Amino acid sequence: MDIIIKKDYEQMSKCAAEYVAALIHKKPNCVIGFATGSTPIGTYRELIRMHKEGLDFSNVIAFNLDEYYGIGMDLSKPYAMDQSYQRFMHEEIFNYINIKKENIHIPDGLTKNPEEFCKEYEEAIKKAGGIDLQLLGIGGDGHWAFNEPGASLDSRTRIEKLSKQTLDDNYEAFYKSAGFLRDDMPHYAITMGIGTILDARSVLMLANGYKKAKIVAKALEGPVTNQVTASAIQIFKGEAIVILDEAAASMLSEAKSSTSVS
Ligand code: GLP
Repeated sequence: MDIIIKKDYEQMSKCAAEYVAALIHKKPNCVIGFATGSTPIGTYRELIRMHKEGLDFSNVIAFNLDEYYGIGMDLSKPYAMDQSYQRFMHEEIFNYINIKKENIHIPDGLTKNPEEFCKEYEEAIKKAGGIDLQLLGIGGDGHWAFNEPGASLDSRTRIEKLSKQTLDDNYEAFYKSAGFLRDDMPHYAITMGIGTILDARSVLMLANGYKKAKIVAKALEGPVTNQVTASAIQIFKGEAIVILDEAAASMLSEAKSSTSVS
């Protein structure tokens, strides 16, 4: 695992975007696993900027990590006030790069048959040749995607009940955008499993801010446990890169926190 520590959010985002761009240059038809949350927004802005300068997404295939269950976006109304990850991905990046619609895969939060949908999602990833690079954040309770504490480390794409901490962490966004009451926000999500993520050829995990420092240290230096599903990065067999800002890295052991600061 390579841990890269950058001065601030902007530097972290630039560094992450450079990794993604390098992969696209090397393999124009690469399969990228995208993530949501506030953490990767800066990376997406940087990728949009790079696209304006010629970075070509026309052959890139995208698979998103997860989606709330019970909500989804009407793509004919792109600025609908909803918190679906469909909306997020289109508004934060897909609308501004030349990725083909048919190459975008995001779990369907409105599917009537989630079990069947999850099986098909796994099949579609396989059919595309597997994920070359999976972008990841980390939830406040240490989750990857929506793999909450207790999720099996070999889990596959499925429906998962959201933890109390995740509901608390994400409630504000629902309330601000659509006036949702706490009980009305989705309590379930469709998520790639930890096993699905561990099958990727490389992972790029990002975290910023003091709020994440404690859980980042647990995930990277604590025991590998399904109570902190992001700790699975320690058993990842491919290339694992972690890019942190100084604040998120501030509780790592001395040796790790001197890895690379710029
Ligand atoms: C959600 C997403 C995760 C993401 C996490 C952190 O729970 N399902 O994939 O890593 O939020 O979000 P943020 O980057 O806003 O801290």
